[in-house]
Amino acid sequence: MIPKSLRTKAEDPSCHIIVFLGGVDTGKTTLVWELAKELSKSYTVGVVDSDIGQSHLGPPTTIGWGIVLPDAEDWDEVQVRGIYFVGALSPQGHLLPTVVGTKLLCDDARTFCDKVIVDTTGLIWGDVGRILKSTKVDALAPDLVVGMQKGRELEPILNLWKGMNRPSVLKFQTPPEVRSKTWEMRYNYREEQFRKYFQEAKLVQVRWREVGIFNLSPERLAEMGDRQKGRVISLRDRQGKDRALGAVENVDPRGVLTIWTPLEEEVEVGGVVFGEVWLPEGALP
Ligand SMILES: Nc1ncnc2c1ncn2[C@@H]1O[C@H](COP(=O)(O)OP(=O)(O)O)[C@@H](O)[C@H]1O
Ligand SMILES: [Mg+2]
Repeated sequence: MIPKSLRTKAEDPSCHIIVFLGGVDTGKTTLVWELAKELSKSYTVGVVDSDIGQSHLGPPTTIGWGIVLPDAEDWDEVQVRGIYFVGALSPQGHLLPTVVGTKLLCDDARTFCDKVIVDTTGLIWGDVGRILKSTKVDALAPDLVVGMQKGRELEPILNLWKGMNRPSVLKFQTPPEVRSKTWEMRYNYREEQFRKYFQEAKLVQVRWREVGIFNLSPERLAEMGDRQKGRVISLRDRQGKDRALGAVENVDPRGVLTIWTPLEEEVEVGGVVFGEVWLPEGALP
């Protein structure tokens, strides 16, 4: 159920960007979905999913965005319009790409949508959590921040804006029906998302000496051979946008990188970004 105060604020035509914050299993994603569906009756609504571990838009390791249509029944019916590769399953140690990617996709979404709702990871603890959420809010400049908490654990972050006129901050307690997910449920969800993403993947060759390699030196890459089989990478197009994930199969030091990817054949690869995640066994066709 959408709280009335949230519905009223979010429905206001001057409210364009809404960011959800909260720890793990506080009901963020469920409420984001309900709100997006409700708003989609009157507005074009985009959702940016910056939860890179439990992604609903785009595969794990990426931030993704899409437009929620009024007749959509679940996340997998939302067409993914863009992704940004973070290359990890948690923002810890990857704060910059997480914040930069969320900002870029939010800007993209805003060019198509009246309202953009941003879902986030549950990393709210300590200095890292505070830096991550405060810089994200600084960058996105939302009209509304929605905080979900079980106790008062989000107060140190929500209090950051108490002396300011914007963003508006609404706080809600997690509904008692919200279920905690076990580590195993999270792992299985992620594995299933990877498996679905790679089910139509084909082997593709990239001439890696002719494009930029991110997060790895060309010298290290040349030595890799097939020792990094399954390492998750992102393929960028000639405009520098992440277009699809890949999984390393083999690296030929003479300049051919062989990967599994669902990337459409007509997209020309302009860069390769290395991540810090390996595909789980059985995720490839
Ligand atoms: N209002 C609700 N009523 C019943 N179940 C809920 C409700 N909100 C969330 N849940 C369930 O609780 C779990 C965690 O909710 P979720 O929205 O994924 O939280 P978060 O995104 O904060 O991790 C999910 O399995 C979800 O289906
Ligand atoms: Mg969630």
